[in-house]
Amino acid sequence: MTKKFSCTSNIVLIITTINLTCCFESNLNNELSCKSAQGHATMGFVISDIGDIRDIGPEKVQLIRSKLLEHAVVVVKNQTLTRKDQIDLSSKLGKIIVLPPSLEGNDPEPGYPAIQRVTNFFHNRTWKGKTHCFGCYWHKDGDFQENGFMFSLLYADQVANNKSSTNFLDNCEVLEKLNKSTLQVLSDTVFAISVRDIPDFVNATEKDYLLFPKNKRYNGIYTHPGNGRKCAYVTGDLITDAGYAPQLKPIFEEVTEKSVKYRHYWEQGDIVIWDNLGVMHRAGSKGGGAGPEDRTPRMLFRTQSWI
Ligand SMILES: *[C@@H]1O[C@H](CO)[C@@H](O)[C@H](O)[C@H]1NC(C)=O
Ligand SMILES: *[C@@H]1O[C@H](CO)[C@@H](O)[C@H](O)[C@H]1NC(C)=O
Ligand SMILES: *[C@@H]1O[C@H](CO)[C@@H](O)[C@H](O)[C@H]1NC(C)=O
Ligand SMILES: *[C@@H]1O[C@H](CO)[C@@H](O)[C@H](O)[C@H]1NC(C)=O
Ligand SMILES: *[C@@H]1O[C@H](CO)[C@@H](O)[C@H](O)[C@H]1NC(C)=O
Repeated sequence: MTKKFSCTSNIVLIITTINLTCCFESNLNNELSCKSAQGHATMGFVISDIGDIRDIGPEKVQLIRSKLLEHAVVVVKNQTLTRKDQIDLSSKLGKIIVLPPSLEGNDPEPGYPAIQRVTNFFHNRTWKGKTHCFGCYWHKDGDFQENGFMFSLLYADQVANNKSSTNFLDNCEVLEKLNKSTLQVLSDTVFAISVRDIPDFVNATEKDYLLFPKNKRYNGIYTHPGNGRKCAYVTGDLITDAGYAPQLKPIFEEVTEKSVKYRHYWEQGDIVIWDNLGVMHRAGSKGGGAGPEDRTPRMLFRTQSWI
């Protein structure tokens, strides 16, 4: 069953045009036809015909993992997952991560501590409102953990097609676009990340904060452990080893502005998986016309696995 699927049709690219590679069942194992069409602009890989992802064996799991390391964001179309299916899938991709309850916001998914609800409605169907937007800034999931080398997986259980988006940027490819002085500053900077500084976790408990490193340190330029690429590490809160560093704001802006971006407009049944060391992401914004202000009920479920 090979279906024609236009890879660019559901994807709006911002700033830079990149070709996303289309991969079908028939050529899934053919490296050449599955390669990204354009040299270094590697972000994004669409798999539209892997069959029922619940049934994939070790070979296809390995294929998804390698595509993730190569392209950082992998989109799988048209799937149906229960919460348990999603946990099983994430467990195949790596070691599944469970966050303590107070880091799950005030809206956990009952019975499934490994799942975070990403939704604009509370259980009682009350709209969360546009001021309530988790993740509406460029960030990496799990950067506060001792091991930040992890995949995140979002599954669109209920969305109005094409009404909400998640944006990604490639923080490795951008390194080539930075000038010498920026590179020098970055290579002299070590970012320090504390779970306490993460806006989404301001209400977590002391007990749960203590589960994580006081300061997880990241070099401003680092080598990605999965693919050897050199990447830029920046965080919007500008907290470094040497304390708050407001002078780095232009560098944060430069990195986030100059990098290749990919806006994923959600369709029901989409699975989007990304490599948090290779990309930063943020919820769709008003500028994209598909941000938190959209009131159409949507329910995405997130899981994470260490690679
Ligand atoms: C979503 O948008 C894409 C691109 O505009 C389009 O090809 C696709 O059919 C849309 N999906 C639905 C269900 O409207
Ligand atoms: C989506 O998958 C179902 C089977 O799960 C299939 O019946 C349907 O044709 C697929 N739709 C598309 C657009 O590929
Ligand atoms: C729905 O739940 C939220 C979060 O618990 C709460 O703030 C809100 O008041 C509730 N709304 C109704 C109508 O019960
Ligand atoms: C490098 O880029 C930054 C930000 O775009 C700019 O402020 C700075 O002047 C540039 N430096 C050089 C030496 O070109
Ligand atoms: C933290 O708690 C306050 C007060 O209940 C609430 O207004 C705010 O939305 C919460 N923030 C987060 C990120 O959960």
